[in-house]
Amino acid sequence: MAEMPNKKQINMVLPNLNMIAAAGNNLELGYQNRLLCHLPKDLKRFKEITSGHTVLMGDRTWESLPVKPLPNRKNLVLTLNRDADYKNCQLLYSMEEALEVLAKEPKAFIIGGATVYKLFLPYTQTLYLTRMLSDFQADAFFPAFNEDEWILKEDEFSPKDEKNAYDLRFQVWERK
Ligand SMILES: NC(=O)c1ccc[n+]([C@@H]2O[C@H](COP(=O)([O-])OP(=O)(O)OC[C@H]3O[C@@H](n4cnc5c(N)ncnc54)[C@H](OP(=O)(O)O)[C@@H]3O)[C@@H](O)[C@H]2O)c1
Repeated sequence: MAEMPNKKQINMVLPNLNMIAAAGNNLELGYQNRLLCHLPKDLKRFKEITSGHTVLMGDRTWESLPVKPLPNRKNLVLTLNRDADYKNCQLLYSMEEALEVLAKEPKAFIIGGATVYKLFLPYTQTLYLTRMLSDFQADAFFPAFNEDEWILKEDEFSPKDEKNAYDLRFQVWERK
């Protein structure tokens, strides 16, 4: 008999939930709670894609932001620390609470870091992934994901230039 699809797994993807990240050849994301490099081209794209929407990040990524909150976006921050006293963002204290809030947003983006990407990837419908075509020293990595479960909808090559030190691929992956 054919195996029944796992209904719980199918239902848990939120159609309004997106993820956006920039990762190196080995899915490197960050080092010592900082991004790996400064890429104006990618920051511009990040701003264009996420502006006007809701963004959710982990406590460590919030701490690392040079400008808080990210302007023109509803900022959600996940933490276990009930004493956290961050201004101009909505604090969420568990996955369950976060998913409940995210489900009600018209369009939301998971913006990192490594821990939060891993937690929310199973719930994500669309993944905006900038591939930085280089190896980096890193201590934070994007979770390995099974490309067979996704369709590569866009894959735009962008060569390095005087302001952006690495060749990039701007990819959009849609969950099948
Ligand atoms: N390349 C990129 O696109 C990109 C994007 C974003 C970030 N980054 C990089 O990623 C690195 C940071 O990643 P990270 O994994 O260390 O930190 P993170 O994912 O930003 O935040 C982790 C924090 O989230 C909170 N948390 C995790 N699970 C939780 C849960 N189930 N319930 C409630 N709170 C929870 C905890 O905060 P508390 O400890 O306060 O409880 C935990 O310490 C940095 O290097 C950053 O630069 C890269």
